[in-house]
Amino acid sequence: PAPGWAIDADVVVVGSGVAGLTAALRCTAAGLTTVVVTKARLDDGSTRWAQGGIAAALGEGDTPQQHLDDTLVAGAGLCDESAVRALVTEGPDAVRRLIATGAHFDTDDSGAISLTREGGHHRRRIAHAGGDATGAEISRALVEAVREQAVRTIENALVLDLLRDEDGRTAGITLHVMGEGQHDGVGAVHAPAVVLATGGMGQVFSATTNPAVSTGDGVALALRAGAEISDLEFVQFHPTVLFLGADSEGQQPLVSEAVRGEGAHLVDASGTRFMLGQHELAELAPRDIVAKAITRQMQAHGTEHMYLDARHFGAEMWEQRFPTILAACRSHGIDPVTEPIPVAPAAHYASGGVRTDLHGRTTVPGLYACGEVACTGVHGANRLASNSLLEGLVFAERIAADIATGGHAREGGAPRAAETPEDAPTCPLLVPEARIQIQRTMTGGAGVLRSADSLAAAAARLEAIRADADGPDERKAAEPGVDAWETTNLLLVARVLVAAAAAREETRGCHWREDRPDRDDADWRRHLVVRVTPDRT
Ligand code: SIN
Repeated sequence: PAPGWAIDADVVVVGSGVAGLTAALRCTAAGLTTVVVTKARLDDGSTRWAQGGIAAALGEGDTPQQHLDDTLVAGAGLCDESAVRALVTEGPDAVRRLIATGAHFDTDDSGAISLTREGGHHRRRIAHAGGDATGAEISRALVEAVREQAVRTIENALVLDLLRDEDGRTAGITLHVMGEGQHDGVGAVHAPAVVLATGGMGQVFSATTNPAVSTGDGVALALRAGAEISDLEFVQFHPTVLFLGADSEGQQPLVSEAVRGEGAHLVDASGTRFMLGQHELAELAPRDIVAKAITRQMQAHGTEHMYLDARHFGAEMWEQRFPTILAACRSHGIDPVTEPIPVAPAAHYASGGVRTDLHGRTTVPGLYACGEVACTGVHGANRLASNSLLEGLVFAERIAADIATGGHAREGGAPRAAETPEDAPTCPLLVPEARIQIQRTMTGGAGVLRSADSLAAAAARLEAIRADADGPDERKAAEPGVDAWETTNLLLVARVLVAAAAAREETRGCHWREDRPDRDDADWRRHLVVRVTPDRT
């Protein structure tokens, strides 16, 4: 749709989690006129829901090198080591700057930051706040700073598409603002630099830890703009999500890895610990290994969940260290102080996304990506726990520095990897009712356990959803609106994800193919990069 209004800026940041707000604050501090566009309220994204914390080599005896080693092991051969090095070496100071911005982390009696452990970390290196409410505290501090700095924000605004000038360079975005007032309806923000920080795509699955806003809008926009997308098959399923019933859909309560970091055990219905002997770190093995072990146990026992037993923490520790999780469990009738918590894996994090270089540049000049929407190379085939908030911080600062020194105008985007763009079939606007069909299709065919057959069936079903909307029946034509645009974005990212998962004929990291159970370094130690012909989606 044609924009009905327009404003101008130096930078437009799309999204308001740790990545978006950090980028906006740093760009503003550099004297750039910055506008933040966000789909709901400033604090409605995934950052607010982060529990465990933020990983950085802050503890005595810990070093960036050890953090790098753990990150590379979790990433299963597909991390970009230079990106990981930037993350772990710049991470500790980035956390200190976050503290200077106003975030309060939990400290011990000596005043030092308290550090916990999570899966895949050989050391205590996870800083946390409010016990298990780290993201909420980071979000509070950043939102407050954005308000203090009077950064211009447009809330309740769904980004639609990238605007480009005649040379193909970024020229801004179009957006749909839901609300009353001066900037209502479809408009445009003109800017030569656009930072995508729209978060993840967990809502493409039926059950996810992600909030309702995580509908893959940034990846969909980038695909439509012809930017390269990489590693979309690597969807991380968090091992321990509170099990609320097999038919429970949408956002599910997370039970942080930090609960295992503090000594909780994974057990079957008879109380037997099944991670012992599976990995040297037992319950603290990298997340893909734990998620697979839980799924195998569920298959072997014919059950829909396993249990996390932390009764031995006692009431006081539960109340002080994990108040959020305790309250969530109790609100669903489970008391972790007296009974094991039923848990099962659910979609949690997109390790892949819009491909960037070390400055956060995508392959489209002037378009940057940061946080979960990006694929910086830091996560490889499986993100290490609590590296995501850190990635958002570190790479947002890198992007702001690049824009402030004219990087977006001076140079092209990141070098392209895909030789020729693929043709994607056109996709009409979908009716919002298609969303649940997409989600069930993805959970059934492209979930924690995949095979060539399940992926082929999912691809056929997604194509049928698309063809149905494209048919002659006018009753199926969607009215333009946020629900319809989101659903269309979900279908687009689902199709690309399924195609990548079908193409990768091996098991690696969080991509688990039951028909190809082994890792195949000879053929598959490489990335799958997708670029579609712009404007044909
Ligand atoms: C958690 O608290 O378990 C989540 C940590 C993460 O996803 O990095």
